[in-house]
Amino acid sequence: GAASKGDYRHFMLKEIHEQPQVMTAAMEGRLSERGVLIESFGTDAEALFAKAEQIHIVACGTSYHAGMVARYWLERVAGIPTQVEVASEYRYRRVVVPENTLFVTLSQSGETADTLAALRFSRDLGYMGSLAICNVPGSSLVRESDLTLMMHAGPEIGVASTKAFTSQLVALMLLTLSLAKVRGEEPERQAEIASALRALPEVARRVLDLDKDIEALSTAFAEKHHALFLGRGAHFPIALEGALKLKEISYIHAEAYPAGELKHGPLALVDSEMPVISVAPNDELLDKLKSNLQEVRARGGELFVFADENVGIESTEGVRVLRLPHVDEALAPIIYTLPLQLLSYHVAVLKGTDVDQPRNLAKSVTVE
Ligand code: G6P
Repeated sequence: GAASKGDYRHFMLKEIHEQPQVMTAAMEGRLSERGVLIESFGTDAEALFAKAEQIHIVACGTSYHAGMVARYWLERVAGIPTQVEVASEYRYRRVVVPENTLFVTLSQSGETADTLAALRFSRDLGYMGSLAICNVPGSSLVRESDLTLMMHAGPEIGVASTKAFTSQLVALMLLTLSLAKVRGEEPERQAEIASALRALPEVARRVLDLDKDIEALSTAFAEKHHALFLGRGAHFPIALEGALKLKEISYIHAEAYPAGELKHGPLALVDSEMPVISVAPNDELLDKLKSNLQEVRARGGELFVFADENVGIESTEGVRVLRLPHVDEALAPIIYTLPLQLLSYHVAVLKGTDVDQPRNLAKSVTVE
């Protein structure tokens, strides 16, 4: 039947809270005790993946950010060179395709005009094949791709994408594990990630339980005109996605930077009117991130830090820290997305915007 909001005030909030189930649905039947089941990508997938030497990922909007996270994973865990590009750029340039490159599209709807045109454009460029990761069965993208992996996220109604993003990330981690396996990368690491994936929906539930704490932070943003999101490594795209969510539904101007670039420009913008939001999982870049945050504090910027519970960052004057449960470093981008979604949602509600149908935007952009 038609999607309903149930007890939720907006579809977006409902879809945010559906994410633990959506994560389970994305991995169900695709991850056994012995690891990822490559045939989930189709009967020809194993042979194709074994031959693949490069990956090109093309997508738009939030789906593009999922692709950016996947680049870190594919290179780090599977050791396969990966490029990611927005479809509207890709389709209008000369693309040089090395031998044995797999073309991957990401799309919730499977009908985004630029992504579909990019797939059609890619056909004459000598790719070994195409894979679509998509949420809508029978969509144009699914019909026209060689391999498909359905997200099983259920209908997404809110224009600002939430559950489709985390579902794409789970699917992309399955792709990463599949490629790691056929390429003979460290099996122990793959097993660790697979078991962390199984535990992921439960961790996500604990993060979503922090909703009230995140709502309390949102009041600091309602009167602001700008915000800066910082992240490093695979959390840079998460910062981009956080900034996109805030722009889309609250109309507050937001930018995202990899924290190490702060000193090359955006630091000039930082003052007490510019809240800075940072994601600080417990990974190898943490110490570098901490010193970036000190640079912000020194300029009077108000900081909001989402940090791993094991990280020694404490709330102090001008620094508000929200602790998140520990999660395997590889999966942290999925978990750190959740508080940023909730933060944008609560800021938008405070501002009284049309959360599910923000001005000037469409759920699926089917014309160029
Ligand atoms: C529109 C939506 C975004 C979405 C993008 C790509 O801009 O408002 O939420 O991320 O299209 O859509 P797709 O269906 O291809 O993932």
